Amino acid sequence: MYAGKARAYTNIALIKYWGKKDERLILPMNSSLSLTLDAFYTETSVSFDETLTEDVFFLDGKKQDLKQTAKISKFLDLIRQKQQLTLFAKVDSQNFVPTAAGLASSASGLAALAGACSEALNLQLTETELSRLARLGSGSACRSIFGGFAEWQKGDSDQTSFAHVIPSDKWEDDLAMLFVLVDDGIKDISSRDGMKRTVETSSFYPGWLENVETDLATAKQAITEKDFNKLGEVTEANGLRMHGTTLAAVPPFTYWSPESLNVMQLVRLARKEGLPCYFTMDAGPNVKILVEKKNLSALKEFLGKHFAEHQLIAAYAGPGIEMIPIERSEEL
Ligand code: PMV
Repeated sequence: MYAGKARAYTNIALIKYWGKKDERLILPMNSSLSLTLDAFYTETSVSFDETLTEDVFFLDGKKQDLKQTAKISKFLDLIRQKQQLTLFAKVDSQNFVPTAAGLASSASGLAALAGACSEALNLQLTETELSRLARLGSGSACRSIFGGFAEWQKGDSDQTSFAHVIPSDKWEDDLAMLFVLVDDGIKDISSRDGMKRTVETSSFYPGWLENVETDLATAKQAITEKDFNKLGEVTEANGLRMHGTTLAAVPPFTYWSPESLNVMQLVRLARKEGLPCYFTMDAGPNVKILVEKKNLSALKEFLGKHFAEHQLIAAYAGPGIEMIPIERSEEL
């Protein structure tokens, strides 16, 4: 039996990954930039075991159905193929999310799985190689190998598409992200399906590609200059443009709910009242607000008039992937 365990933290893109140019290798149409966070993470252990007759997948202690297990098996198949291994595996994942808020993330999940597999099979991967492996599970997972700010350089092949740290002089420690949970339901359109439909049908998609590399350069410059407003402005603009592309898809769709719009409006109002903060959204209705740590409590107070305490979850910059020694008792 080969066993390994890893913990990976989720990341939120400030400059979004939106669209694949290679579905199988998960090569993105554009580069992206994220902040890894401390509040949400996944711990995964994997054991490749000769006594198993199929892959089994437990999430938060519950055995998952065939559909969920198939997603994991697809990734394990890649590893088995690369390593010429025929053993099935037991995968045990725990999502650490402050509330049962539907924030389970494919980024932390697939990064932790890639890390656990690499530990189990003693692959001795460099961080770059691990990032490439995680990318094959879920694009955004390649950024969760790293703490703080990470850039996923799009590359044009399996070898050249991976994430790396953006030097920041630890500026991320001055920042926070406030999650506003407006909906804990399961999302209608996965990011995978959403980006596929957008790339294939949205007449706004070329506009997205036209702007995104400039946005990325602006964000990197803002990090170098430690210029919060510059980073916030480009984060908000880039997120809006990503979501704009979905409206011109065929058929059109949106991840926004009326409550998401309400939060966006409140963020603009907060800014007007002298509180610098900026929003971004992903493939679901929850809104994430970038704010300086020193202004976090003021922002929470401001939003506290409109939302319950459990809807507001703060996160700070988090670390990169961590390998966890397997205890003998766990292995048996
Ligand atoms: O890695 P995926 O397939 O979960 O896609 C993530 C897509 C966005 O969250 C919308 C953007 C991003 O860069 O994380």
